[in-house]
Amino acid sequence: MPALVLLGAQWGDEGKGKATDLLGGSVDYVVRYQGGNNAGHTVVVGDQKYALHLLPSGILSPNCVPVIGNGVVVDPAVLLTELRGLQERGVDTSRLLISGNAHLITPYHQTLDKVTERFLGKRRIGTTGRGIGPSYADKINRVGIRVQDLFDESILRQKVEAALHDKNQILVKLFNRRAIGVDEVVGEYLGYADRIREYVADTTLILNDALDQGKVVLLEGGQGTLLDVDHGTYPFVTSSNPTAGGACTGSGIGPTKISRVIGILKAYTTRVGAGPFPTELLDADGDALRTIGGERGVTTGRDRRCGWFDAVIARYATRVNGLTDFFLTKLDVLTGWEQIPVCVAYDVDGQRVEELPHNQSDFHHAKPIYETLPGWNEDITGAKSFSDLPKNAQAYVRALEEMSGAPISAIGVGPGRTETIEINSFL
Ligand code: IMP
Repeated sequence: MPALVLLGAQWGDEGKGKATDLLGGSVDYVVRYQGGNNAGHTVVVGDQKYALHLLPSGILSPNCVPVIGNGVVVDPAVLLTELRGLQERGVDTSRLLISGNAHLITPYHQTLDKVTERFLGKRRIGTTGRGIGPSYADKINRVGIRVQDLFDESILRQKVEAALHDKNQILVKLFNRRAIGVDEVVGEYLGYADRIREYVADTTLILNDALDQGKVVLLEGGQGTLLDVDHGTYPFVTSSNPTAGGACTGSGIGPTKISRVIGILKAYTTRVGAGPFPTELLDADGDALRTIGGERGVTTGRDRRCGWFDAVIARYATRVNGLTDFFLTKLDVLTGWEQIPVCVAYDVDGQRVEELPHNQSDFHHAKPIYETLPGWNEDITGAKSFSDLPKNAQAYVRALEEMSGAPISAIGVGPGRTETIEINSFL
């Protein structure tokens, strides 16, 4: 049995938590492969609501092993707080596995993230301020600290010293901040070692053995396609690869083992942080989508920017991820609109463009070209099958599918675990 990838097809926050959780009951491993506690998944189980940032949502499924892969950046303080929060609510967290090769987020990464953003002023990215970018930068610069370094004090000290050598110069001389002491960081991080040790494993070996034994592995992206550092709206992106290729490097599973790549697609569009967003609505419709859809960041509490569905983006996500399926979420949020505009192409300086502009300035100028589809008023949250949906909702889904380039295999019609219409099984 193969591996499946589940990732956001837009700018993240498409409702991956619900989709992963739905599959989590029938898969053996759920792996986070990139990002860190910049992500936010809301999972509703019965009357309980869980907000997860770093932990894979599979942690809520008792028969599933949740894995933090090598491609993730881990803030140990956040990890332990999140684990404690779940344990206090009776969730068994003992199955968790963390790659020893995952990189750590340290206090200097968080400080650098915040001061850099402040100094960028109007050009800021709008990061989550969690230290994600600086931690990945250290990884690529080969001065990062990995989870396995926690278990060797002398190595940890050497690496923290090396990392702080430049950073303290930057913090003090460039940003006018206090220097961060090596002992401070080493002391704090050694304190985490014993509490994390039991979870640390060679996850690449375990996952490949599991696949050889016929187990099902679900690889879950933390952010969306357009936040990808290579394929997203650079520089308004996160510092890792949520797109499908990142699932391989971030887990150590080869591409030949992956059979399905499922894109989570919201029935409209949202984004947090700065950067271009052609279908953004700065009017009452945008406010209504935000209110009805509960579009407020799980991680930062920031209001999400909201707009109509953008088929150009969905087609792009199909292309750069090789998507085999879509999971359409939050269709119920669109109930009550008489007409629903859908962006089918862009107008870039007077030219009709069907594909995402390769040139960044063109994307900044792109104006949406809309087709308008008829809406519906019926409550769809109880729909169990596609045929239970009102005719106009069915037509909306079919139109999106045709424009987006991959079949819509599941539809979310409400926030609860069971409020999902499955059209084709993912397994
Ligand atoms: P960073 O990942 O904190 O460096 O932030 C970079 C950009 O990615 C900012 O625009 C963030 O708002 C955005 N971002 C990071 N994580 C998420 C997420 O889980 N959902 C939506 N946007 C995110």
